[in-house]
Amino acid sequence: MPPLKIAPSLLSADFGQLQKEIVSVESHANWLHIDVMDGHFVPNLTLGAPIIKALKTKMIKDCHLMIENPERLLEDFVKAGANIITIHAEAVDNLSGLIELIKDYGIKAGVSIKPKTPVSEIASILGSIDLALVMTVEPGFGGQQFIESCLPKISEIRKLTPDLDISVDGGVNIKTARQCVEAGANVLVAGSAIFGEFDRVTAIKNLRDAALN
Ligand code: DX5
Ligand code: ZN
Repeated sequence: MPPLKIAPSLLSADFGQLQKEIVSVESHANWLHIDVMDGHFVPNLTLGAPIIKALKTKMIKDCHLMIENPERLLEDFVKAGANIITIHAEAVDNLSGLIELIKDYGIKAGVSIKPKTPVSEIASILGSIDLALVMTVEPGFGGQQFIESCLPKISEIRKLTPDLDISVDGGVNIKTARQCVEAGANVLVAGSAIFGEFDRVTAIKNLRDAALN
């Protein structure tokens, strides 16, 4: 299993001072998780490529696209500096074609599944992606409760692909982190558990400790 990475989810940050929020986590976290929502694939609407482009960070820009027809906007996200683009298996018809398109831009390709989507939907493409993202809440909002019944899907993916980065997203906190890692996840996406805390450095440290002990 690849090393543990912590990915603060910007969705729970103060949108009035995003740059300052990034600085508060930058030297302690690994990836910056950026949730892009279109108000169609999910009921919420967040931010797009122009804002991602404006965000300055040394962290990996891990862009989680919860949007329909992501192919229309891929180039914009690449130009905005996305290092990883994750699309939802449920949002596209030609999943393998889109994965290749993302990789052709020279960046990493991820695929995400919602809580009710089985691993069998993505089993055939697991060998061609850089990241599998397992949602442990219904996508759309931060601060929801962790859905424990999604954990076996992480184990299933880990068994099939021992060296793949596997993210877990939704309700990840000091109480749930350990189970995620035990199931096989090595990237912990956390919004409220990090940006919801006043002391971000301690929040990240606590999450890391909880995951490993
Ligand atoms: C939800 C997003 C998550 C969200 C997680 O659709 O994909 O990244 O920020 O928030 P928490 O960690 O608060 O559950
Ligand atoms: Zn996300």
